Formats: sequence, C-alpha cells, structure tokens
Amino acid sequence: MARKAQRLSFVGVLIVAVASSLGAQEAHVGNLTGHADAGKKLYKRFCIGCHGERGDGVGDNAPFLEPKPRDFTAATFKCRSTLTGNLPTDEDLYKSVVRGFNTSAMPSWAPLTAQTKIDLVAYIKSFSPRWHDEKPADVLKIPTETPVTIESISHGGELFQKLECWKCHGQEGRGDGPSASTLTDSKDQPIRPYNFTGGGRFKCGAENEDLYRIFMTGVDGTPMPSFNDVIKPVDAWDLVHYLRTLQKTRKSRENEVLKAAGGKLLPPKPEEKKPEDPAKEPENKGAGNGRK
Ligand code: HEC
Ligand code: HEC
Repeated sequence: MARKAQRLSFVGVLIVAVASSLGAQEAHVGNLTGHADAGKKLYKRFCIGCHGERGDGVGDNAPFLEPKPRDFTAATFKCRSTLTGNLPTDEDLYKSVVRGFNTSAMPSWAPLTAQTKIDLVAYIKSFSPRWHDEKPADVLKIPTETPVTIESISHGGELFQKLECWKCHGQEGRGDGPSASTLTDSKDQPIRPYNFTGGGRFKCGAENEDLYRIFMTGVDGTPMPSFNDVIKPVDAWDLVHYLRTLQKTRKSRENEVLKAAGGKLLPPKPEEKKPEDPAKEPENKGAGNGRK
C-alpha cells in the first residue's frame, strides 16, 4: 500500500515536472500571453501534417513540399527583426504565422483567434533549447524612410551592382543570376533567389520597411546574406527604392518617379569628396591658401 502510494506520488511529481516545463514556455506579443501546453493540441490539429510531431519539419506531407517545412528543432528562422544568427522575437513568429509564406505551402493562419496563434507560437518555441539558453537578441533599428527621388533610386542601382545582388537575383531581378542555379539552403535543398519582376509579396512582409529589414537581417538558413555590416542606413533606403523599380508591373511611388525621369537612372556620380580628406579641405576656405 505504502509503496504503491509512494510510486503514485512519484508519477504525480513527474507529471507536474513535465507539465510545468512545457507550461514554462510562453510567448508574449502586446498584452497576449501564449502557453505551450495549450498550443500543443492546436499544433496537432493544424501544423503536425507538415512540421511533424517532433517539430523537425518531416510531417507526412513534407516529402511532397518544396521548399520544405521549417525544422523547429534547429530554430533557424527566415523572417526576423533580429540580426542574423539570432532567434526571432515572439512577434516575428506571430507575424509569420499570420502572414503565411508566399511561394511555399505554408498558409496564412490569420483566421485563427489571436489567442490560438500566440499559444501556437509558445509551443513552437518548446522544440528547441535555444529559447531557454539565449538572451533576447538586438532588434534592427530602422530609421525613417528617406524621400523617393531619382537620385535615391539611381544610387540604389549602383549598390545593387557593387554589392553583387545581381549574381543571384540577376541584372533585372528575375532570380536568374549566374549563381542562381547552384544555390542550396542549410538543409542541402536547392533554393531559388527571389524574382522581383513577378511583383509578388515577399516572404517576410510587403512594405518598404519589410524590404529594408529583409536584406539587412538576411534570410537565415539560405544563401541570402545579411548586409547590416555593409550598408549604411541611408544607403539601405536607396537600395529599397531601387528594388521596387525591379517590380516593374507593381504600382509604386518608385515606379512613378522613375517614369517621370524618362525611365532612366542617373549616371553614377564621380567619387564623392570625403570631408576627412585633408588634400581637398583648403579648396573650401577661399582664396589666399596658396593653392589653385
Ligand atoms: C501545408 C503545410 C504546412 C502547414 C499545415 C503549416 N506549415 Fe508552417 N511552414 C510550411 C513550410 C513549407 C514552411 C517553409 C516556408 C519557406 O521556407 O519558405 C513553413 C514555415 C513555417 C515557419 C517559419 C517562419 C520563419 O521565419 O522561418 C513557422 C513559424 C511556421 N511555419 C509555423 C506554422 C504553424 C504554427 C502552423 C500551424 C498553425 C503551420 N506552420 C502549418 C508548411 C506548413
Ligand atoms: C548568394 C546569393 C544571393 C545574393 C548575393 C543576394 N541574395 Fe537575395 N536572396 C537569395 C535567395 C536564395 C533568396 C530566397 C530566400 C528564400 O526564398 O527563402 C533571396 C531573397 C531575397 C529577398 C526576398 C526575401 C523574401 O522575404 O521573400 C530580397 C528582398 C533579397 N533577396 C534582396 C537582396 C539584395 C538587396 C541583395 C544585395 C544587397 C541580395 N538579395 C543578394 C540569394 C541571394
């Protein structure tokens, strides 16, 4: 009797321990709090067929899908407001679930209630210990958008060349650059660069701010790099404005400005004077400095 009771209470402790370790996984967006234990049932109902029981991306439908469903145990995510290599924020995941992934089988789950979606996010986080081990990462700061001018678009075009975006995305942004056919993702699956000319929504959002964020934070798990260490914030807006003109059929401010300029980019400016270049400084100081 006593032994049985002891064993029962041991089982009880185990259940409490497991439940609380699951329950401990939470997700927060605004004033919503998601709970992994509630998310588990929802995941079985809505997500398991693609992402798999263990969250490893090998659900029953996975063999038929291209690109493959995300492996939550690896915790590498494409759409992040955080810098490359980091976990996304809860809000990033929540938005991904709402948005769905264009040009993939991942549907938009917008019709589910907000509580359902946040519970699902909490459960997804229970598949990787990274969520326990890592501190919240820095979020990319996005300065106010600069005006859309032909100068800005033209400079963005220069950056597209200089930073070799064309090697993957192609000179006209068709996703057919010289490297395009050779690319694979972190799971050794072939992956195509985004085709801008289709004018479709990006996987990670539809607004100019999303576009800015995508190339600054990179698409982790794919060959699409992060350019945050390479591009200055004002230059990044120029690149955004140029990329919009690759979406030729899309109605946009950028396409209007380009059309008004006769459809042509300005020629590249000659090397800009660098203020810290001492050789050029005296020129601005009027006559009498002994130089012509
Ligand atoms: C029909 C298959 C399918 C179903 C059902 C499905 N997904 Fe996905 N999901 C995918 C695919 C495919 C991808 C990868 C898309 C890509 O890489 O472009 C993905 C990616 C994701 C990502 C990755 C986000 C990122 O930034 O990398 C999250 C989060 C996600 N799914 C959550 C869910 C949740 C939650 C459910 C259930 C409510 C769900 N998915 C149901 C196919 C599915
Ligand atoms: C080494 C190849 C490579 C280079 C270089 C590259 N990209 Fe990409 N890019 C990709 C791939 C591959 C994808 C598709 C990722 C996916 O679908 O998950 C992509 C996707 C994108 C997307 C769309 C992401 C989305 O949410 O759908 C944008 C925007 C983008 N790249 C911009 C750029 C810009 C701007 C540059 C240059 C500054 C650049 N890329 C350089 C390979 C590259």
